[in-house]
Amino acid sequence: MNVTLRQFKVFAAVSKHLSFTRAAEELCLTQPAVSMQVKQLENQLEVPLFEQLGKRIYLTDAGEEVYHYSKVIAQQLEELETVLANLKGLNQGKLRISVASTANYFAPTLLGTFCQRYPGVTVSLDVTNRQTLLKQLAENEVDMVVMGQPPTDMDLEAGAFMENPLVIVAPTGHALASEPRVPLKRLEQEIFLVRELGSGTRSAMERFFQERGIHIQTGMEVGSNEAIKQSVQAGLGLGLLSRDTVEMELSLDRLTILDVEDFPILRHWYVVHRSGKRLSVVAQAFKDFLLNEAAPLLGKSPAHGVAAIGSERKPRRGHTEKEQGSSAQPTP
Ligand code: PGA
Repeated sequence: MNVTLRQFKVFAAVSKHLSFTRAAEELCLTQPAVSMQVKQLENQLEVPLFEQLGKRIYLTDAGEEVYHYSKVIAQQLEELETVLANLKGLNQGKLRISVASTANYFAPTLLGTFCQRYPGVTVSLDVTNRQTLLKQLAENEVDMVVMGQPPTDMDLEAGAFMENPLVIVAPTGHALASEPRVPLKRLEQEIFLVRELGSGTRSAMERFFQERGIHIQTGMEVGSNEAIKQSVQAGLGLGLLSRDTVEMELSLDRLTILDVEDFPILRHWYVVHRSGKRLSVVAQAFKDFLLNEAAPLLGKSPAHGVAAIGSERKPRRGHTEKEQGSSAQPTP
């Protein structure tokens, strides 16, 4: 058999997306180049790997087998890379990390300090919402992720490293801005701007109100924390956001945090990877760095006493939220 690793890599990308176009985008290749690699692999193996029905392509039975082996081969190569990087120590190596959109407000600062300490390390950072993070974990695409409360229905190792209070923000002149202990029921008269489906902040918010039988009115669905803040400032509604995202607006007096019964929702930031994942020396060093140094470095409250996955601790004031499980299964 005279196949190449490149052919396997291209074939695996097409199989993952079931699309030549999306595989080409992911690999930064042209679509004809992708098609050619797959054709060459089919010729070498003397079996068709895809079939086209209507506009969609599907893996043949042989294609399914080859896909399975291509993933095993890729994983073995990755392990080899890890073993070799470990031999070389922290002088070089790669850290592949993804963080929740909301964690983007502090992750670059932490990476900056880590990279200064280990200048030989290269980092690939992806910023995306919770649903995509879970998919990346399921498909073993990253070393680890930084996210809110991890789901209990995936085989994960997770360590809490910092508090992540969720608060309700309003424009500074809002009628409720000076009210103490606003009752939850009063919020039913307000419009809330919500993050996109798949956002951890959004699901925490929905779960919180649902558990208390509060029916809030939702206005616009807004795809980023930044856009929510702008929309709240423009008077389009209230926002429920991580406090980490509004530091600047609070100091500039553009937004205010409402004093609402049962708030803040006390969420935590976790560093999460698949159970049994063989972390490289670099990845392990970054995990330790987050667990031991992130909170003091950022001047935030650490997550003392918060156990691994699925646990909760007593709130000081407000509400500590608990995850029900993952709603985000990897999409086929
Ligand atoms: P999000 O995640 O950025 O997807 O809302 C934050 C979180 O899970 O708390």
